[in-house]
Amino acid sequence: MTTKRSPWQRTHTCGELDLAHKDQEVVLNGWIENHRHHGQLVFLDLRDRYGVTQIVVDSEANGMVAGTFETVRRLGAEDVVSVRGKVRPRDADKVNKNRSTGAIELLALQVIVLSEADTPPFEVHDKAEANEELRMQYRYLDLRRRPLQEALMKRARFVTAIRNFLQQNRFIDIETPILTKSTPEGARDYLVPSRVHPGKFFALPQSPQIFKQLCMVGGLDRYYQIARCFRDEDLRADRQPEFTQIDLEMSFVEEHDVLDVVEAMFVHGMKEGFGIDVPQPFPRFDYFEAMDKYGCDKPDLRFGMTLVDCTELAKKSDFKVFAGAVATGGIVKGICAEGAAEKFSRKGIDELTAFVTGLGAKGLAWAKVTASGLEGSIAKFYEGDKGKELVAHLGGKPGDLLLFVADQKKVVHKALGDLRLKVGGLLGLRDPKVFRGCWVLNFPMFEWNDEKGRWQFAHNPFSAPVNWDITDFSVDTDRIRSRAYDFVMNGWELGSGSIRIHRPALQAKVFEFLGISPEQQRANFGFLLDSYKFGGPPHGGIALGVDRIVTLALGREGIRDVIAFPKTAAAFDLMAEAPSYGTPEQMAELHILSTAKKPES
Ligand code: AMO
Ligand code: AMP
Repeated sequence: MTTKRSPWQRTHTCGELDLAHKDQEVVLNGWIENHRHHGQLVFLDLRDRYGVTQIVVDSEANGMVAGTFETVRRLGAEDVVSVRGKVRPRDADKVNKNRSTGAIELLALQVIVLSEADTPPFEVHDKAEANEELRMQYRYLDLRRRPLQEALMKRARFVTAIRNFLQQNRFIDIETPILTKSTPEGARDYLVPSRVHPGKFFALPQSPQIFKQLCMVGGLDRYYQIARCFRDEDLRADRQPEFTQIDLEMSFVEEHDVLDVVEAMFVHGMKEGFGIDVPQPFPRFDYFEAMDKYGCDKPDLRFGMTLVDCTELAKKSDFKVFAGAVATGGIVKGICAEGAAEKFSRKGIDELTAFVTGLGAKGLAWAKVTASGLEGSIAKFYEGDKGKELVAHLGGKPGDLLLFVADQKKVVHKALGDLRLKVGGLLGLRDPKVFRGCWVLNFPMFEWNDEKGRWQFAHNPFSAPVNWDITDFSVDTDRIRSRAYDFVMNGWELGSGSIRIHRPALQAKVFEFLGISPEQQRANFGFLLDSYKFGGPPHGGIALGVDRIVTLALGREGIRDVIAFPKTAAAFDLMAEAPSYGTPEQMAELHILSTAKKPES
């Protein structure tokens, strides 16, 4: 076999030619993005992963191979070609500053068609606005567009930076099984039938949780994995049925050890992967502090406008809405939107009111701060000093808009927390190019599931309680806190983890409280509980969602925009048409009878 380059093969990419290549003869390979015909001249835009180069085909060019012009006239969008030509500078007024190759063009001497393309189902163009379903069905065409290519290249750079960081920090990259047993992360499992064990199923991991903990029992001390996880759950813009975690676990650590290393890792990855400088340190909030200040456990710290408790002031108020809420055990909280008084008309405020009532609040009390006092729905109850006191309490000044919700705490936090985000957005305070991270610690250990009428774990059942000595989880359950933490950026949960239980008796107690019988415990987690009997070290860890981080860093709409081959919101692969029915032979071999009715044809 010859190792010589064939004449059609590229000498350069479509992104690298500039004035330094003037008068050189080069060969480019790529896809036809555009073709414009002007009589004896044809202009082609030739695209590859690296960029776009303008090709000029002049029927009267010296030295052009016979037949080239005819070939070019027949070319269509997305044909794959090889172009041999001579680099020449563009006229000064034709320089394209938006392109790396914008200073030159290639005068074609020969064009060879490598592959002909049918008319694509949508225009393969950076700004093409084809509908997403069509783009997912023809994902390989969508992948030719720069926004996706850029996302995938930066994603790769980010993950590489993370790997390098972790390798340098003594973490070991360990692969854990994909065919395994159920891991409780709160979603449904994807099951895989076993041919050799009739009637039995593997579960795909919802996360490597149990195995990474077993790595700690195995003395590996610092584990990491860029891990694919599988969850059969209801999808949204920030969820896919399979997604990727940066998964870590460390032995002999406390919270701050995990948080410190993850923060440094993240900042390094953001810089190397995306060129983004993320300011440190990330504030660390107690869960209740976050709830009190931001009304949610995922604070967006790009702006202030924190929730201020006005319950004490409301008690003294003649405003029945406030006094009434307090009298029935509720609270009153307000936010101060700086300089927003002028920005919200009556209609604007009505829209905000509709927004909070849609979230379960009974109304929205409001006031504009003016030099002479308050104006708005609560003004008449807050005249003179009372008004001044309220404004001072919220840190307001003339020109600000004050917004209040009175209700039970849960409703106030939901309504006002979301309103804060909405108003922040309307005021342009949620700049997608600004990145503010934080940690939220000590989440409640359990949460009440209304539907099921029982307590369930809030993070996962392996998180340790703050109090190691706890013996009865049924007492004051809502006040029991776990050593679980979330990593949050710009109002998005990017990661979640905890210090784990490493004592089998305590772990069994948690399972028992969650209604998992000793038999189920044995069947599902026996190997983990057993492992601790042989010396389980104190340990903890975290998992960060790669897809979410990349989406946020690049300011994309949803995680589908940073995944090469994503699934639809209905967990379907439109391109491969997966999932699909098993053949009768496969079903028989797997000992499976389906109760599903196949649609006719
Ligand atoms: P958790 O379930 O919170 O924790 O997941 C950790 C992070 O993974 C990302 N993530 C997702 N991304 C895309 N699509 C999904 N369906 C999806 N689900 C989760 C999020 C989330 O913050 N084993 C624990 C971690 C630990 O305790 O160490 C776990 O998986 O960014
Ligand atoms: P009302 O007395 O119901 O006419 O309400 C007077 C003002 O208070 C209106 O602007 C309502 O939107 C607002 N309001 C009503 N209920 C609440 C509540 N629970 N919290 C805050 N504002 C409210």
